Amino acid sequence: MTRKIAILPGDGIGPEIVAEAVKVLECLNTDMDLGLEFESGLIGGCAYDEHGTPLPQQTLDLCKAADAVLLGAVGGPKWEPLEHAVRPERGLLGIRSELELFSNLRPAILYPQLADASTLKAEVVSGLNLMIVRELTGGIYFGQPRGVRTLANGEKQGYNTLVYSESEIRRIAHSAFSIAQKRNKRLCSVDKANVLECTELWREVMTEVSKEYPDVELSHMYVDNASMQLVRAPKQFDVMVTSNMFGDILSDTAAMLTGSIGMLPSASLDANGKGMYEPIHGSAPDIAGRGVANPLATILSVAMMLRYTFAEATAADRIEKAVNAALDAGIRTADIYSEGKQKVSTAEMGDAVVNALKNGA
Ligand code: NAD
Ligand code: IPM
Ligand code: MN
Repeated sequence: MTRKIAILPGDGIGPEIVAEAVKVLECLNTDMDLGLEFESGLIGGCAYDEHGTPLPQQTLDLCKAADAVLLGAVGGPKWEPLEHAVRPERGLLGIRSELELFSNLRPAILYPQLADASTLKAEVVSGLNLMIVRELTGGIYFGQPRGVRTLANGEKQGYNTLVYSESEIRRIAHSAFSIAQKRNKRLCSVDKANVLECTELWREVMTEVSKEYPDVELSHMYVDNASMQLVRAPKQFDVMVTSNMFGDILSDTAAMLTGSIGMLPSASLDANGKGMYEPIHGSAPDIAGRGVANPLATILSVAMMLRYTFAEATAADRIEKAVNAALDAGIRTADIYSEGKQKVSTAEMGDAVVNALKNGA
């Protein structure tokens, strides 16, 4: 059996962190005969530089032919002056949309070894295990019309459209309810139904779908309160489901509960389990090229790939165990460093995980 993985390192720290995740996959591939094959493609700013577009046709073809995609990150100051349609971020949005990866799972898990790396008190975050389910191919990110227009008085006006159809809400609801069913059976739907009609419909559909999952307790929360509750008492949440933009923002907040944004992986899934896997953070231009980025979010993303796309739970468990072993050994990249621990580079962290795999994880 061969399983094709498209590797899209992207920009900034993307190539640095993806190299470590590929190291981990290669180690398991040899050890467990997983049949993984890798092929690389360009996306984002580097693709624009080479082909004049952030999502070249050959990259799209590569991803469509692959069973799974591993992505680093896109974007950076170099490409900020570009017009919107060819910005690196458009490449990422394009691939999510083209592959219909509507269900974005962003688990925020605090590794106990990092309780003191969080900016919050250890007792607030210890034992945290939260899943954010973010709708990824709709909402204000994709709604039409959008743009900047000039009004009759000569003033410019920018506009975007928040739009969700019932079927888009229904399918992300089913994703979230079935995940909640396999966890602690509590789902909190986050919206702004007190102000936005679109999210009033969101709330209605969530409530309607909940009837098919009588064992899951559904609650609703406004997004402003949810952002406050996430830092006040994050352990009240089991699974959260929300729209594209709210999920983007809340998952960065949740990341910090785990000590660093460098710890948060993600899976973006279509209706058939095909997926793209990426850390939730960006290309971190402020630290790119220095070999100091934390590769664990990307390494944990390939664990999600093995679990969700390839149904290789044992291999996925092994990666998570190896990450635990590296943290147990006191190995830390700068973002999760605390006194008395060993500060290592991106590649050394990757090596530590590979060594843990070789030594029994
Ligand atoms: P960012 O996530 O890149 O960085 C925010 C902060 O977190 C920075 O201080 C950075 O150094 C730090 N950080 C991020 N990842 C880290 C890691 N693995 N290890 C250690 N520290 C890490 O967000 P930003 O600065 O707002 O955006 C930079 C660029 O990345 C922009 O062009 C943005 O559009 C893009 N971006 C891309 C993605 C993606 O590709 N999925 C996600 C977010 C932002
Ligand atoms: C993310 C990023 C992207 C998003 C950007 C780069 C398009 O912030 O993956 O969280 O907003 O979805
Ligand atoms: Mn984001």
